Formats: sequence, structure tokens, C-alpha cells
Amino acid sequence: MPWHAGDVRGYSREVSLEIVDVTQTFGERRALDSLNAVVPDGVLTGLVGPNGAGKTTLLRVVLGVLSPDAGSILTDGLPVTADDRRRWGYMPQERGLYAGMPVGEQVIYFGRLHGLSRAEATRRAHALLDELDLDDRWADRTDKLSGGMQQRLQMATALVHEPEVIILDEPFNGLDPVAVANLSETLRVRARSGCVVLFSSHQLDLVQDLCEVITMIDHGHTVLEGNVAQLRASSGLRQLRLHITGGSLDWVDRLHGVSVVGAEADEIRLSIAPSIDPLAVLDAARVAGQVTDFGLDLPTLSQLFFAAVAADNSAESVR
Ligand SMILES: Nc1ncnc2c1ncn2[C@@H]1O[C@H](COP(=O)(O)OP(=O)(O)OP(=O)(O)O)[C@@H](O)[C@H]1O
Ligand SMILES: [Mg+2]
Repeated sequence: MPWHAGDVRGYSREVSLEIVDVTQTFGERRALDSLNAVVPDGVLTGLVGPNGAGKTTLLRVVLGVLSPDAGSILTDGLPVTADDRRRWGYMPQERGLYAGMPVGEQVIYFGRLHGLSRAEATRRAHALLDELDLDDRWADRTDKLSGGMQQRLQMATALVHEPEVIILDEPFNGLDPVAVANLSETLRVRARSGCVVLFSSHQLDLVQDLCEVITMIDHGHTVLEGNVAQLRASSGLRQLRLHITGGSLDWVDRLHGVSVVGAEADEIRLSIAPSIDPLAVLDAARVAGQVTDFGLDLPTLSQLFFAAVAADNSAESVR
């Protein structure tokens, strides 16, 4: 897929995090297979893919928890160092909090681990817990919180040292809609201020609404990546809906890359190849009959996901 990080905001710029040809095997199993991806800063990037696609493995490699068999992780073109990674924030899929520790103390503890003074860690813990709507639980033991609250607390521990690179494995899993909105805003604010924010999720509607960029992986390699709006607009799954009166549909047969996928009463639906301009199709329709209504339906991220995974499964069966 010809895509450059510069496309994301319409100008050419340095890529902040680059995953280059990464392969990770576990015994005979190849969890990541020459995987490539770019994660620009300043926008939210969603990592999506079916169960077992390799998302958690990829995030662990990016964080240096796993050393890959091959490949490299670069920031601004240079290999990531242990020092770089110490400044990053990480929220693992398997949550790791101290059950008996009070909420506020937990965030302070993680802040102290990153070298903050007690006073600074305390100040930031209050600000973050307030932002994540947990400050009223400051003195409660962690294991007295609900699952979703513990998740928000885990997020606070990942952000307390104000990391510039934030990596989260399924941060939205199990959260209620208010908490999802709250956490989304927390991440959006960090991205807007220039952070790299990469998170995995199975909630494709949420990723579609929230993320400017996605990386979709399957069987350990990237199957689709880039700006979400561009991917949806340029997909072969677009459909032009026309209310057209009079005549046959012969005019459609004369158009290259256009086919009828539905026709009832005076409404027809046309699928349009990525290279075809829908306005040119509309022009042809207006010559053929009277167009009283029209619309371009873009595929949802979920539809792109199913199409990419189906294509990858058939490619996998011949590999
Ligand atoms: N420590 C490990 N030892 C052996 N195999 C592993 C290990 N970690 C992951 N795998 C395998 O690597 C593949 C990718 O797993 P991974 O956890 O990265 O998937 P995922 O995309 O995060 O899935 P999910 O959506 O279920 O979280 C799977 O086949 C898994 O069994
Ligand atoms: Mg996972």
C-alpha cells in the first residue's frame, strides 16, 4: 500500500516510530513475520487485527520486552535505545497493579520508579486521577475498585511520568461508555500535544471514530495501514447510491470498474473500483436518466477489516 506518514497531516515529516521487518518466533510459531509499520506522532494510531494476529507480541517487541529474531524499531530514523524506552509509558494487556496498595500511593509509586520526587509524583497523581475521574478513590485499596476503575488506574500509572511515547494493549476493554469517552479524551490530549500514541483494540467502531491512523495486522504481518479516512475513501468497497428514473442500466456496463450490486424500484447501488472517480459515474448517470438523489457510502473500518482478513486468509492458504 503506497502510504507515507506525511500523508496523515498532508505534509511530509519525520516518522516518529518505525517498525522495520520485525520477525518474532516462539519455537515453531512465527508470531511476527517481517512486519513493517509506521506510527506518526501527533495523532492516535490504532493497532487492530484478529485474536492471535500478533498485536501483543508486536507491542512487546516495540517496548523491548521481547528481542525479535530479526528487524528493528526506530525513532526518528534511529534505533530505539533502552534509555528511550525508560521514558515511555506502557499499559499491558495483563494488568499489573499491587492489589493491597491504596490508589493514590500506587500512582505515586510508579512516578517514583521513573525518578520523580515524592512531591512531584503526588501532584501528578492527583491531576491524573482527577482527569480519569478516580480522585475520590485516592485512599481506597486497589482491589476494592471495580474492574473498569482498576483499568483507569493502570492508565494513570502508565502516564504519571508524562511519556512522549504511549503504548497501550487493549486499554478500552471492558470500560463503560463514559469511561471510554474519558479515556479517549485523555489519549487525544496527549496525541495533540505531540506524543506517539499506539494502542490495540477490537472495538473497530471506536477505532474508526478515534484514530486518524490504523495499522491492521493478521498472521504476523501488516495487511492494511494508513490514514483511516483515506483508506475508507479509496477502498474498492465504496458504493454509489443513485435514485435514477427511466431507461435501462446499459450505461453502467459501458463504464470501466463499475458494477451494479443492487437495484430495486428506482434506487441502484454501484460498486466503484478505487481508481474510479465517483463524480464521473454520477455524470454518466445524469446523461442516462434523471438523477433525483445520490450518495457515496464509504465502508466502515469493520468492513475493511473483514475484507482484509478474508484476503489475507486466502493468501495464507497458498503460502
Ligand atoms: N510467550 C509466548 N509463547 C508462545 N507463543 C506465544 C507467546 N506469546 C504469543 N504467542 C503466540 O503468538 C501468536 C500471537 O499472539 P498475540 O498474543 O501477539 O496475539 P494478539 O493479536 O495480541 O491476540 P489477542 O487479540 O487475542 O490479544 C499466537 O499464536 C500466540 O499463541
Ligand atoms: Mg493481545
